[in-house]
Amino acid sequence: MIKVLFVCLGNICRSPLAEVIFNKKLSEAGLSNKIAADSAGTANYHVGENPDPRTIEIAQKHNTPIDHKGQQFKKHHQEEFDYLIAMDHSNYKNMIREMGEEPSKLLLIRDFDPYGKGEDVPDPYYGGVNGFEQVYQILDRSLDKFLDHIKKEHHL
Ligand code: 4NP
Repeated sequence: MIKVLFVCLGNICRSPLAEVIFNKKLSEAGLSNKIAADSAGTANYHVGENPDPRTIEIAQKHNTPIDHKGQQFKKHHQEEFDYLIAMDHSNYKNMIREMGEEPSKLLLIRDFDPYGKGEDVPDPYYGGVNGFEQVYQILDRSLDKFLDHIKKEHHL
């Protein structure tokens, strides 16, 4: 199994959304038996919690229901996952600090965004529901390209 971990700060907004959108794409592509996604946050504020209600709302609106409990990103995840995908530069740096190195499996999700390569997925936590819809759209298009990348690397 090829394992992907999406990582944001709180693990209640961006990364759980990335996880469910990506798992849905895998299911639609018939690849759920080969690739699987999970998510984590670099902070410990929301460990064990459900996603933010606005995340749940946006996920339901797009037919990608969420079932996830917050977990914190730890060094051991580096061995367990084949791809570590940060939502922004700040969490990319947090992850390097936790791992003590910058492994090649660590990437930014918007490296795969045709509109805004290398930018951050904006943190929607302190904004309104519009910010969550924007995050959904960024993730949806970036994850298509990320899946293409994995398929190419693994000849799937
Ligand atoms: P996330 O958003 O990193 O996309 O899950 C946030 C969630 C919680 C907080 C910040 C960002 N917080 O400060 O509690």
